[in-house]
Amino acid sequence: MNNLLPISSQTATNGQLTIGGISVETLATTYGTPLYVLDHATIAHQVTLYQQGLAEVSPNYLISYACKANLTTGLAHQLNDLGVGFDVVSSGELKTVLKAGVSSNNIVFHGNNKLKPELAFAIENNIRIVVDNQSELEKIHEICTSLQKKASILLRLKPGVDTNTHAYIKTGQADSKFGIDDIYLDQIAEYIRAHSTLNFLGIHAHIGSQITELLPYLELVDVMSHYLKKFQFNYQLPVKELDLGGGFGVAYTKSDAIPNITDYLQKMVSKLILKCKETQVELPKIIVEPGRSLIAQSGVTLYRVGTIKEIPNIKTFVFVDGGMADNMRPALYQSKYTFEVGNRMTTPKTKTYSIAGKYCETGDILAENVPLPEISQEDIIVVAVTGAYNYAMASTYNRVGRPAMVMIKDGKIIELLKRETDEDLLRLDTGD
Ligand SMILES: Cc1ncc(COP(=O)(O)O)c(C=O)c1O
Repeated sequence: MNNLLPISSQTATNGQLTIGGISVETLATTYGTPLYVLDHATIAHQVTLYQQGLAEVSPNYLISYACKANLTTGLAHQLNDLGVGFDVVSSGELKTVLKAGVSSNNIVFHGNNKLKPELAFAIENNIRIVVDNQSELEKIHEICTSLQKKASILLRLKPGVDTNTHAYIKTGQADSKFGIDDIYLDQIAEYIRAHSTLNFLGIHAHIGSQITELLPYLELVDVMSHYLKKFQFNYQLPVKELDLGGGFGVAYTKSDAIPNITDYLQKMVSKLILKCKETQVELPKIIVEPGRSLIAQSGVTLYRVGTIKEIPNIKTFVFVDGGMADNMRPALYQSKYTFEVGNRMTTPKTKTYSIAGKYCETGDILAENVPLPEISQEDIIVVAVTGAYNYAMASTYNRVGRPAMVMIKDGKIIELLKRETDEDLLRLDTGD
């Protein structure tokens, strides 16, 4: 079995891929395609890896799922039941997790340009806010004054740690749009001390996404330890919560090497504990914000094959009924994926295909040169590791509705999202 598929996947004797005992043919026939499928067992497994990694070194922690990776109300509900918190970046995400019953104490609100109504909604609901810049701090103070409330805040710092990941998903380097530059910290600390509307909880940094090495995280601990000391002793603002961000990478293909999550957390936190002892700073509550690494591998996308088009001596295209609008990562980041034919799992991969979508763009190619069994129309193409940043980044390009999403849990199907229909798309149009 390909280990990049969800952990409850198996191959039945008729060559059908099953997830939690349910065949992909049944899922595709019942819910249509393209279809996002999430495996609860895989998500629970990933959450456990994080919990084990943190619990052994520091019992005071919060795993805050970066729900930009994938979010529906039902998914938030399931994750809440697994004991994770949520990192949100908009009022839409915030309202979704509140609707799912998540406690405000387990929510962290991010963003480099939060709108005033979003800030007001967060303050009214006692949500922790991670402040990105001084002007946001001033807006928060004004809103608190008019609402007669206090806001609990963390400061997003720019740690200056560069990472070996795609330029579009780096965030910690000096020229990043995110975070507060060191030169502004003195005045920001003074502003916080001078305004009783601001309840200082701590500091945050996030160095990027799809990071596959430990070294940048260890560098991050060095930088943040320096700031723990500076906030406590220079600014008299002791850090109660230290948010180390997310970004831990996942394997999309068999050649991707990923360090072990539990091991990485233990190394990172052990180093932090040591640094805190050295500098006589009390170890704060540790927050981590994994998105991709909690959810990516739990997800597969199912497509039906519509047409097979051979260009003699060049390539053979397989056209599927989705593409760049439900998975924009290959077009955006040149991301690679792993493909299977869900109804031919036991057939040898003797052919090579290019998998293209149905959208009117030459760049709507999910992958080139994929070894697969000989394909026929109506076969089911399965794309592994599509649980993160696929539905979340989906668009209605070409006025095609977004796919449905289901979760498999204990051998049962939970519907998370209905397919968006043509009528849904017409509903918001105004004018004749
Ligand atoms: C502030 C913040 N935290 C956490 C994450 C989650 O990153 P990932 O999904 O790579 O774990 C992101 C995503 O870029 C982010 O911007």
